[in-house]
Amino acid sequence: MAHTKPVLAGNWKMNQGPTAANAYLDAFLAAHAARSDRTVILFPPALTFAAVHARLKERPDIRVGVQNVHAEEKGAFTGENSALIAADAGAAFVLVGHSERRHVFGETDVESAKKCAKVVEHGMTPVLCVGEKIEQREHGETEQVVLHQLLTGLSMLDHDAVREAIIAYEPVWAIGTGRTATPDDAANVHRVIRAALVELVGEGAQDIPILYGGSVTAANASALLSADQVDGLLVGGASLDPAGWAVICAAG
Ligand code: 13P
Repeated sequence: MAHTKPVLAGNWKMNQGPTAANAYLDAFLAAHAARSDRTVILFPPALTFAAVHARLKERPDIRVGVQNVHAEEKGAFTGENSALIAADAGAAFVLVGHSERRHVFGETDVESAKKCAKVVEHGMTPVLCVGEKIEQREHGETEQVVLHQLLTGLSMLDHDAVREAIIAYEPVWAIGTGRTATPDDAANVHRVIRAALVELVGEGAQDIPILYGGSVTAANASALLSADQVDGLLVGGASLDPAGWAVICAAG
C-alpha cells in the first residue's frame, strides 16, 4: 500500500507518433479529471515528446518524461538524446535502465549510474528500473540481481538525490508477457528494495516511490497497488489504451 501519493506512469515504448498522441490525449484527458491525490506521468517516444508536452500545458497535473537519455552530455552520438536536451525540451522524469534498454540494447549498471547522475544534474527525476530475468528468479538470484542493479544504478548520486529518485521494479519475465507478478511477489521484492534504500540513505527512504511494472492491466492495477511497499505502477501495453489507462489512473 502506498504510504505516499501513488505514482501511475505510462511507458508508451516505441508507440504513438505526435498525431496518434494527440488523438490519445483527446480521449484520455476527457476520461481522467485532475486529482491531487496521485501523480500521473507519461513517457512518450522522444519524437512525440514535444507534442505531448505542449498539449499538457492545459493539464499540468499530468507530468511527462522521456524513456532514455545518453550518459554523455553532448557530442558525436548520432541518434541519441542527452539529459541536457531532455531537460531543455521540458522533461521532468527520465526512465533509466529499463529492461529493454538493458537486454535489447546491452546497457550496463554502470551506464545506468552515469545516466542517473546526468538526469539529476539537469534537475530531472530518474526512474531507475530494476528486475530479474526468469532464469535468475528460478536460480534464487532475484535479490542479488535487483540489489546490484539498484545500488550500482544509484551509486553516483548523493543521498539527497537518492531520496528524490523513483525506483521501478519490473521483473523481466512479467514485461509484455501477460504473466503478472502477484501482489505478494511484488511486495516481497519491494520490501528488499525498501530495506536497501533505508540502509543507504536512512529513514527518508520510506518516501521514495517504488513502482511495480510488468503486465499491469486495468483489472489487476488496484490489487497490485494495495500490496505492501508498492507505491505506484509503471505500465507499458495497457497505457496505450486511453480508456483503460484512465481506469488504471483511478486505481487504489
Ligand atoms: P507491460 O506493461 O507491457 O508488461 O510493460 C511493462 C514495462 O516495461 C513498463 O515500463
